[in-house]
Amino acid sequence: MSVPIYQYDAVIVGAGLAGLAAAKELKSAGKNVVVLTKLHPLRSHSGAAQGGINAALADTDSVDSHEFDTVKGSDYLADQDCVEFMCQTAPEAIRWAEKMGAVFSRNEDGTIAQRPFGGQSHPRACYAKDRTGLTLLQTIFEQANRVGVDFKDEWYVGDIVYDDDNSTVKGVVAYDIKTGESAIFNAKAVMFATGGYGRAFKINSNAHANTGDALSIVARAGLPLEDMEFVQFHPTGLAGTGILMSEAARGEGGKLLNSEGERFMSKYAPSKMELGPRDLVSRSITQEILEGRGVGPDKDAVYLDLTHLGEEKIMERLPELRDLAITFLGLDMVKEPIMIAATAHYSMGGIPVTKEGHVRKSPSETVKGFYAAGECSCVSVHGANRLGANSVLEALLFGRAVGKTIAGDLDSLSLESVESNSADTFMNEMENILKNNGDERVPALRSELQESMTRNAGVFRTEESLKKQKEVLKDLRARFKNIRIDDKSKVYNTDLQEAIELGHMLDFSVFIVDGALARKESRGAHFRNDYPTRDDKKFLKHTYAYMSKRGAVKLEYGDVVLGKFEPQERTY
Ligand code: FUM
Repeated sequence: MSVPIYQYDAVIVGAGLAGLAAAKELKSAGKNVVVLTKLHPLRSHSGAAQGGINAALADTDSVDSHEFDTVKGSDYLADQDCVEFMCQTAPEAIRWAEKMGAVFSRNEDGTIAQRPFGGQSHPRACYAKDRTGLTLLQTIFEQANRVGVDFKDEWYVGDIVYDDDNSTVKGVVAYDIKTGESAIFNAKAVMFATGGYGRAFKINSNAHANTGDALSIVARAGLPLEDMEFVQFHPTGLAGTGILMSEAARGEGGKLLNSEGERFMSKYAPSKMELGPRDLVSRSITQEILEGRGVGPDKDAVYLDLTHLGEEKIMERLPELRDLAITFLGLDMVKEPIMIAATAHYSMGGIPVTKEGHVRKSPSETVKGFYAAGECSCVSVHGANRLGANSVLEALLFGRAVGKTIAGDLDSLSLESVESNSADTFMNEMENILKNNGDERVPALRSELQESMTRNAGVFRTEESLKKQKEVLKDLRARFKNIRIDDKSKVYNTDLQEAIELGHMLDFSVFIVDGALARKESRGAHFRNDYPTRDDKKFLKHTYAYMSKRGAVKLEYGDVVLGKFEPQERTY
């Protein structure tokens, strides 16, 4: 099928913080760069990050301490060379964001205010009230516009053009959601910055767009995904919906209470209490609920009590949270405790990349012209469990760094020609969905996927639950072949888009489940009731998973980059 071919130096897919920071750097370096996003940039999920961005700024803090907290938080699975780079560069990233125009909350003396976050030994999260991500997103978008980055909003990327003989990516295949017309974006460099995959779970804090498309695009091309079994559950999602109630709430002094009015974190993290790391606090909340000490009509939540902070402090520091709890639960945190439970929040796994952002073909080889940064990538600075406020940092800092890497690499990369039939696979996929006339419905299959992933591959996992989930996925995949969508047009066809997205979710969910099944230990966010301890002898390893055929995965393991912090028992 013949489609237009557009040519650029660099194509960036995704317009969250990582994509925007890279685009800004590339355009400032005089490169011809386009950003493709299936949304409008300001609707990117980075804007939902509330609580902060970490950097060791205070005299009482140190980069070393930031590194140690991050590595310990990761349950020693993070690559320490990458953690070192991130923590050392963090203060400069904050200064850059400020210089770009980001307005952070300040202390009385004019310095940037920083609040405590879970699993950290110092108040390290710089913030803009509880709208930190949005503030940064608006700032960097404005700057990317100012330098003239070319944005193509509401373009859906469905495939890469990959020459696997030469290990080279030459572009992407996309369609314009507004018209349904497809095109190839041919470039010397392609960067994925598409965000995470939390939408595979029923209760999640993610935007509707976080369907992990890029992950299965990469996997379908035969490239590996890394550590996909590590899915972070944020302790405080609004009961019923999972909408984020920022860790800032606990950073500012919020208390977690069960149905007996007990501040139960004293049992699980006696020294850190509510400011334990996310994996531990999420498990503690879930355990309280499972043991019958939940609150609410279905006893499936616990209380987050902020009433002691008073209205003035809540309005100064947490106005967005107050608003959300009133809107979605009808509870005013100034006057009463709100109800929360763990919510799927962040994807530690993703597209394996080097510290410089080159996509890996295997633990030791990279793909020419292919880069990734932010949540869709696995660099890996978060290992098995991310610390709060390290994600906005990672997106901004690595996004920017990868933009610079690409700018430097472009001189030695050439624009490889692409055939117009490179779009055929994706266009056939769309045509098949449009033509299909089966009796299965996308929303029903998606709900079954999300409910079963939460039940069987959620906060607590067992051999039995994961095997059950494998069967559920097999069944859903078979039924997916038999779908029917009602809208057969090409203009703003959200039925079509959601069907394509469901295909991606089914593909990458197999990676989560198979990785989790094979990892017979508990580490960070991956908790196996049947293997409740960490096993460094067998599993101080990154998982590399390859799609052997649709619905099947082959697992390999790669070394973790250790450094100055020896793995120790992790207590809080
Ligand atoms: O809790 C929060 O504000 C979320 C921040 C993060 O995930 O880093």
